[in-house]
Amino acid sequence: MRLLVTGGLGFIGSHFIRLALRERPDCRVVNLDVMTYAGNPANCADLEADSRYSFVKGDICDREAVESAITGGVDAIVNFAAETHVDRSILDPEHFIRTDVLGTHVLLEAVRRFQIPRFLQVSTDEVYGDVATGASTESDVLRPRSPYSASKAGGDLQVLAYWATYQAPVLVTRGSNTYGPYQYPEKLIPLFITNLIDDQPVPLYGDGKQERDWIHVEDHARGILEVLERGEIGNVYNLGGGNNRTNLEITQLLVRELGRSADTHVTHVLDREGHDRRYALDTAKARKLGWSPRIGFQDGLRSTIEWYRANESWWRPLRSGEFKDYFNRQYAHRLVTAL
Ligand code: TYD
Repeated sequence: MRLLVTGGLGFIGSHFIRLALRERPDCRVVNLDVMTYAGNPANCADLEADSRYSFVKGDICDREAVESAITGGVDAIVNFAAETHVDRSILDPEHFIRTDVLGTHVLLEAVRRFQIPRFLQVSTDEVYGDVATGASTESDVLRPRSPYSASKAGGDLQVLAYWATYQAPVLVTRGSNTYGPYQYPEKLIPLFITNLIDDQPVPLYGDGKQERDWIHVEDHARGILEVLERGEIGNVYNLGGGNNRTNLEITQLLVRELGRSADTHVTHVLDREGHDRRYALDTAKARKLGWSPRIGFQDGLRSTIEWYRANESWWRPLRSGEFKDYFNRQYAHRLVTAL
C-alpha cells in the first residue's frame, strides 16, 4: 500500500506512520507536512533511515504541492493535517477554516482528478458538540460549538458531500481526546505533566467537571489503519477510548502521580468561552470491524508521564519561543483573574 499521509509530523499522524510501517511491511509512506508550530521533525526522526518513508514539505491548501506529492501514484490519502487546538481557534479562527475546510477541499479535488482509491479524513468527536447524556453515534446531527469543531465539521461535510455527489471513495474517523507521547504541550495532559515536572501550577478551567473520553494515541492510530483497510466507503467511524473522566479527575491523577499537591499546584482559572461540558462516543460500528482499544487508561497515563519525564529534550525546546507567546495570550489574563 502506498500512502500519502498529510500532517504526518503532528501527534497522531506521526504515530500512525510508525504503526503502519511497523505492522505492514509492504507499506510505503509519503509524509506531506507544512511544518506549523505543531509539525515537528523530531516526531518522525526515527523513521528517516527507513527507505519506505519520505518527507515532503508542503501545504494541503496548495494544489500544486498536493499534486506533486501524489505523482508516482498512491493507493490512499490519510488526512491528519489540521489546526487542532480549541483555545487557539478562539484566539484566531481564520487559520482553522483555511486548513481544516479549504485544505480538505483541495485534497478531495486531488482524489477526484487522480482517482485515488481511498481517502480517509481524520476527524474528532467534537463535531457532535456537547452531549449531556448518552453517547454520540455516527448518524447524529453535528452541533459544533467552537471555531475549531465547526471547521472540522465543515471538512467532514465536504468529504461526505464528495461521496454523495462524485462517489469519491471516502471514509471519516471521529476520534475522542487523544493522549500519549509526542503530544505538543498545549493540550491538557502534556501541558499539565510538563508544568508539574517544572513545579508549576496547572490552570484548570472553570469547575473542572467537564468530561472527555480519553484514548491512547496507539489505539487511535490502529483504529484509523483498520478503518482505512476494512471500513465501508462513504461511512463514518467513531474511535473512542471508553475512558470518560472529568478534567478534575485527570488533574488529581496527574498531581498525585507527579508527587505534587492539589493545594499548591492546581489553579482554578476562568473557563474557556463556549466550553463543551461533555463528549462521549458510541464505538459499536468500529468494533464491528474488529477494532477495540487495548491500552488501559491508568497504564497509558503512567507510561505517558514516564515518556515526558524521560524525554525532556523533546518538549523543553517546544515550551520556549512560539509557545511562550501563545501561553501569555491564552493564560495571562486567566491566571490574573484566577477563581
Ligand atoms: P484540550 O486538551 O484542549 O482538548 P479539547 O478542548 O479538544 O477537549 O482540553 C481538554 C479539556 O481540558 C477541556 O475540557 C479543556 C480543559 N483544559 C483545562 O482545564 N485547562 C487547560 O489549560 C487546557 C489546555 C484544557
